[in-house]
Amino acid sequence: MSRKNDKTLRFYHEVLGLERLHYGMWQAEDDVTIAKFKEAQIRYEDFLIANIPPDVKKILDVGCGTGIMARKLLNMGYDVEGLSPDVNQKKYFADKLNAKFHSTKFENFTETNQFNCLIMSESSQYIKLEKLFTNAHKALKNGGYLIICDYFVKKNATGIQSKSGHKYDAFVKQISKSRFEIIKEKDITESVVKTLDIGKDFVSRIQKTVEIYTENIVKKHPHFTNLILWIGKKKIKKYRKQLQLLDSQEFKKNKTYRLFLLHSTTES
Ligand SMILES: C[S@@+](CC[C@H](N)C(=O)[O-])C[C@H]1O[C@@H](n2cnc3c(N)ncnc32)[C@H](O)[C@@H]1O
Repeated sequence: MSRKNDKTLRFYHEVLGLERLHYGMWQAEDDVTIAKFKEAQIRYEDFLIANIPPDVKKILDVGCGTGIMARKLLNMGYDVEGLSPDVNQKKYFADKLNAKFHSTKFENFTETNQFNCLIMSESSQYIKLEKLFTNAHKALKNGGYLIICDYFVKKNATGIQSKSGHKYDAFVKQISKSRFEIIKEKDITESVVKTLDIGKDFVSRIQKTVEIYTENIVKKHPHFTNLILWIGKKKIKKYRKQLQLLDSQEFKKNKTYRLFLLHSTTES
């Protein structure tokens, strides 16, 4: 997993205390609050579920995170298995669910002809393109489906936002070379970006707290403060760059967040 993304995820999980590891889908009128964020995440999962074709019975949740989506699907009566290379997620999954878990990267997954549907919710970005569609086709039964919901990097993207995610053009080209056809594609960028606003808001609150508690030290020891700032200048520069990952305008400029529903075809 890319370290930059890993940090963003850890921030949402460990600092904001969220169980889910995806952006969610906000409504235009939503206030940027944790309560609304939680609703947005549930809305996103319902949106994914609504896109599962009616004939599907057995699902593999690829990059299953903390197992919440898998649990929802099991409760709906689907036969579900999870997959993730992350050891902590293996534990979350085992604690929550009585379902099979594959402790591996999808690139190394070798099962064939098993599932009616694979779901990659914000996990396709971590899977090498060359293996993503070939392994997905092998894992699926005849006529199976692949649901991908993730962000992609736009053409001419720049800055730190251009560093994570598959390039959209390359991704679509890879689909056209694969044994899948697109039966639905939907751009949901506008509805995900408030997640970045909430992250940024929390970071600035933390910054403010640090400022308040260090105010006296800065006043009493200005030379010492300047020295510390000088020593830490590389770290501060890096931190400012990382903050751009939480900039929703930058995200919209450089990224597109999309749902793909793909149908596997038999011709090679
Ligand atoms: C952003 S989280 C999304 C989790 C979950 N699907 C969700 O929507 O909340 C990305 C997931 O992809 C998994 N992942 C990372 N690299 C992977 C790989 N090579 N193959 C499969 N899953 C991978 C991570 O462990 C994590 O579970």
